Amino acid sequence: MTQQITNLAEYKETYQRSIDNPEAFWEEQAESFSWSKKWDKVLEWDFRKPDVKWFAGGKLNITENCLDRHLSSRGDQVAILWEPNDPDNDVQSYTYKELHAAVCKMANALKANNIKKGDRVCFYMPMVPELAIGVLACARIGAIHSVVFAGFSASALADRIKDASCNMVICSDYNARGTKNIPVKAIVDEAISMGCDSVETVLVHRNTGDDVVWNDIDKWWHEEIYDQSPSCPAEVMDSEDMLFILYTSGSTGKPKGVVHSCGGYMVYTCYTFKNVFQYSDGDIYWCTADIGWITGHSYIVYGPLLAGATTVMFEGVPTYPDAGRFWEVCDKHKINQFYTAPTAIRALMARGNQYVDKYDLSTLKVIGSVGEPINEEAWNWYNEHVGKFKIPIVDTWWQTETGGIMITPLPGITDTKPCYASYPMPGVQLILVDSEGNIVEGNDKEGLLCITFPWPSMIRTTYGDHERCRQTYFSSFDNMYFTGDGARRDKDGRYRIIGRVDDVINVSGHRMGTAEVENAINEHENVVESAVVGYPHDIKGQGIYAYVITQNPVSDEEKFQKEVRDVVTKVIGPIAKPDIIQITSGLPKTRSGKIMRRILRKVASGDVSNLGDTSTLLNPEIVEEIKNGAKV
Ligand code: PRX
Repeated sequence: MTQQITNLAEYKETYQRSIDNPEAFWEEQAESFSWSKKWDKVLEWDFRKPDVKWFAGGKLNITENCLDRHLSSRGDQVAILWEPNDPDNDVQSYTYKELHAAVCKMANALKANNIKKGDRVCFYMPMVPELAIGVLACARIGAIHSVVFAGFSASALADRIKDASCNMVICSDYNARGTKNIPVKAIVDEAISMGCDSVETVLVHRNTGDDVVWNDIDKWWHEEIYDQSPSCPAEVMDSEDMLFILYTSGSTGKPKGVVHSCGGYMVYTCYTFKNVFQYSDGDIYWCTADIGWITGHSYIVYGPLLAGATTVMFEGVPTYPDAGRFWEVCDKHKINQFYTAPTAIRALMARGNQYVDKYDLSTLKVIGSVGEPINEEAWNWYNEHVGKFKIPIVDTWWQTETGGIMITPLPGITDTKPCYASYPMPGVQLILVDSEGNIVEGNDKEGLLCITFPWPSMIRTTYGDHERCRQTYFSSFDNMYFTGDGARRDKDGRYRIIGRVDDVINVSGHRMGTAEVENAINEHENVVESAVVGYPHDIKGQGIYAYVITQNPVSDEEKFQKEVRDVVTKVIGPIAKPDIIQITSGLPKTRSGKIMRRILRKVASGDVSNLGDTSTLLNPEIVEEIKNGAKV
């Protein structure tokens, strides 16, 4: 069994042991899984390349660990409990036995459609059980899944399909979200028409049953699985074979495909799931994330299923039919662990306490937060109205690249403090450095957050471009992984994540590169150049503030703003729409032509008092214009 820490002394002892001898520590954890061949070496690593191998030479299939391993002990226990968008529709559930059969049928259907080990399969689906089934079916046969969040536009989807040369796309007909019925299949059709030549088949899951246009390469999910056997041998995978690709944004214009591999990801997600949520047999666990993001991969699908948990999947949105939906679902399914995002907490807090206070939340034991810093007001509200001052909040810090939770309180074991993700998980070796890479020693200090030793679920490469992985994460500081975040270590050694120090903004927990948004804005025919920065936003955490230089004067500003937002929606998706657009005749630039974003950030945050030394700018006069035209 994966170790479950139960008290503070054990946490301290385990942490120390994991640092003194990481190989022995992780080997012990890995022993509890089914391997078809044991590893030859626990760890080989070189951060400078980077080249990291966990459980090298080991052979396994992660789905045998998620499913087969549980059949004799918990075959009839619910594995996935699905809550539909419309509360009047039926809940669906899959026991471990049923999930195993469904995954095997789908795996056989994939094989019948020419999908083999190493092929890439793109998913563009709503939060329906078939998404989890499809992802696991890929893992069953060694195909690499690449899930794209179904809020991205056709063009963003096409970029991701092309980057990974996907052989198949799996989608639904429509996506029922609140009162909307989003035509998912039509978006896939549009993406395919943008030159996705590698795609041989589009497999369509019938969700709402509304009409869709049918093309030669399309096949129905239900027809393809109909005759398939409910058993499928699991492909034997090397511990370091790719499990999945997940695209995320960085400081350049092009999203990168973060690659995770089988063995280490399995061990780490299961270990962190059991410890961070203190899951016990019989508990009902709910993470409200979307499987389109890493949180859904690690803590809706893999971590919980590896641990033999009952994991809830929710199709809808927190505000439908009203702002009490989350709490209604917690009450209805007697949720024990609840994991959500600060942006959802802030949005629900703003709607008023009457939506939460009327539900029975007494089954909750742990409540969690992920994706962005949780501000004190939201933390306090969560603590009072959801936790009733009795339940620990786990503010979990991690990233797509880390694969699993890295810094977090352990509920009931370590203390909690608003705004603090707190303490590293066992095996996680953190360090703060200054901009020159000097180690920041001692407590009550701030610095750039780095990790000095490998952990099992870390990023292995960026798909198709290993050098980019090295450059982005391993070149800023020698022999360390650089997170891109700034952090504060308080006097007792707890960590508080301050936010990104690179050109990445975090809007409602969605990570976005400023360059990506700028590229999209620049596609408007009247835009010459743009610069995007984040600014504090009450609900979203950060909003998007865009400074735009136009070719010709704009006579109707409202119309222009709408056009710019439409272009961004088309190129990336509605999540990247700028909140504020300021037209300007220039941008503050250094003599080498670099935009001085520091000034733009200050103006966007409503603070024009002290803009620092602007005399070194190429065009200092522009600062006055920008200040005067500020829209905050
Ligand atoms: O800036 C940090 C912020 O989200 C970034 C990672 O984003 P992504 O890869 O999309 O993964 C989100 C879900 C794991 C981090 O670099 N972040 C994530 N969790 C927290 C956080 N910032 C503060 N506190 C957190 N708990």
